[in-house]
Amino acid sequence: MIICSMNMAIKSTNAQGSQSLALLICILANFAVNINGAALNDSVFYYELATLQPSEATNLPIYIVLQQDQEEHAKIVDMVRYDKGKLNAKATNLTAISWAHAVNSQQLLGESLSSDIDMIEADIVLGKLNGEGPDLPVMAHPPAKVSDLTLEDFLQQIKVYNEENEGAEKGVKLDFKSIEVFEGSLGILDETIPKMTYPIWINADIISGPVKQISSVPVDPARFFAGCMRYKQAVLSIGWTTKWGANYREGEYTEEQCDAMLQVINDNNVTSTGQPITFPVRAGIAANSATQLHDLVAAVNGTNECTLTIWSSANDYVDVAQLRKLIFGFGLDRVYLDVPEELSSQLDLGNTGHGASTFNSLVSFSFVSLCFWAVSSWLKSV
Ligand SMILES: *[C@@H]1O[C@H](CO)[C@@H](O)[C@H](O)[C@H]1NC(C)=O
Ligand SMILES: *[C@@H]1O[C@H](CO)[C@@H](O)[C@H](O)[C@H]1NC(C)=O
Ligand SMILES: *[C@@H]1O[C@H](CO)[C@@H](O)[C@H](O)[C@H]1NC(C)=O
Ligand SMILES: *[C@@H]1O[C@H](CO)[C@@H](O)[C@H](O)[C@H]1NC(C)=O
Repeated sequence: MIICSMNMAIKSTNAQGSQSLALLICILANFAVNINGAALNDSVFYYELATLQPSEATNLPIYIVLQQDQEEHAKIVDMVRYDKGKLNAKATNLTAISWAHAVNSQQLLGESLSSDIDMIEADIVLGKLNGEGPDLPVMAHPPAKVSDLTLEDFLQQIKVYNEENEGAEKGVKLDFKSIEVFEGSLGILDETIPKMTYPIWINADIISGPVKQISSVPVDPARFFAGCMRYKQAVLSIGWTTKWGANYREGEYTEEQCDAMLQVINDNNVTSTGQPITFPVRAGIAANSATQLHDLVAAVNGTNECTLTIWSSANDYVDVAQLRKLIFGFGLDRVYLDVPEELSSQLDLGNTGHGASTFNSLVSFSFVSLCFWAVSSWLKSV
C-alpha cells in the first residue's frame, strides 16, 4: 500500500479578472499498487477538498469517496485505470526518465521503440512525405521539410507498440515547429490523444527568449493554447526560442521573458484549465537563471502542476556546478533532464534508482495531473 498525498491550490479568476475564489485542494489518493506489473487496487480513492475563501478564511473540508461503481465518478476512475501496474505513487526522481530525441524518421522510431527509453521526442513540420504529394504534418526538424514518416503514422505506431507492451509503454513529446503545423495537426490529435493511455506532451516555443533571439519565430501563444485546450490530459511544454552554443557564457532567461510567459499563461486561461505545465529550458541558460525560474514556477504551480525540463544541444556551454545547484534547488521531483549523456554524467546526480521506477515516476506525474484536472472539472460541474 502506497500513500500519496499532494497539495494544490486552484485560483480561479472571474471575467473581470479579479480573484474571486481560491480553492485549496488537498488530494489524498490512497491506493495500493503492485509495482511489478499486476493490478492497481482500485478499491477506493479519497479526495479531501478543503475550500478556502481568503476573505472569510473559512476552511470547510469535504470528503469525497470515489468508487468504481459510482457513475458520476467513473470517469475519474477510468482515467487512473491506465496506470494499472505501473503506478508508483512517488514521483521522486524525474531526472531518471530517459529520452529519445528528434525521432524524426521511420528508422529512428523503430530504434526507439525497441530500446528501453521512456519518452520519445520528435519534431513536426508541414512538409511532404518522401518529397511527394500535398503538404501535411510530417516528422522533421527545420530546415528539413521532407520525411519518410507522417505524424499520423508516427502516433499510430506508438499506439500499437504501447497496446502490445502493457507495463512498458512509452510516452510522447510532440514539438510543433510552427502554428500552421500545429493547427494542421489538430484533426489527427483529436483522433489520437483522447485514446492515449500514456503520457502525451505538446511542446512549442511560444515566447522569444535568450540570447537576443531573433532568428526563429515563436509559435503564436494564443492560437497554440486555443488548440491545447482540447487536450486536457496533455502536458503543456511551453518554452522560449533560444540562441546558445559553445562560445556563449553570459545569458539568462530574463525577468521580462519569464513575465511574458506568465502573461500568456494567464491571458489564455491556462490557470483555469489546470493543465500540467513543464517549462523546457536550455541547460546552459537555465544554469544562469535560477532566481527567475523559481519565481516563474512559484507563480504557476499554485494552479497548474509545474516542472522544468532541462534540455541541451550537444556542444552547448554549460556551467555544470550551477546547473546541478539549479536541479537540486527545484528537487529531482520537479526536473526532467533531457541532455546528452556526457552532461548528465558530469552532473553526477548519484547512482541509485533506475529502471522500472523511472517510467513509474512519469506516469505518476501524469496521473497526478489527471487527478487534478478531473477534480477541477468536477468542481466546475457542481
Ligand atoms: C484491494 O484492497 C482491499 C483493501 O485493502 C482488499 O480487501 C482487496 O482484496 C484488494 N483487492 C485487490 C484486487 O488486491
Ligand atoms: C478566459 O476566460 C474568460 C472568462 O471566462 C473569458 O471571458 C475569456 O474570453 C477567456 N479567454 C480566452 C483567451 O479563452
Ligand atoms: C510552488 O513552488 C514554490 C517554489 O518552488 C514552492 O515554494 C511552493 O511550495 C510550491 N507550491 C506548490 C503548491 O507546490
Ligand atoms: C536520479 O536519477 C539519476 C538518473 O538516473 C540517477 O543518477 C540518480 O542517482 C537518481 N537520484 C536519486 C536520488 O534517486
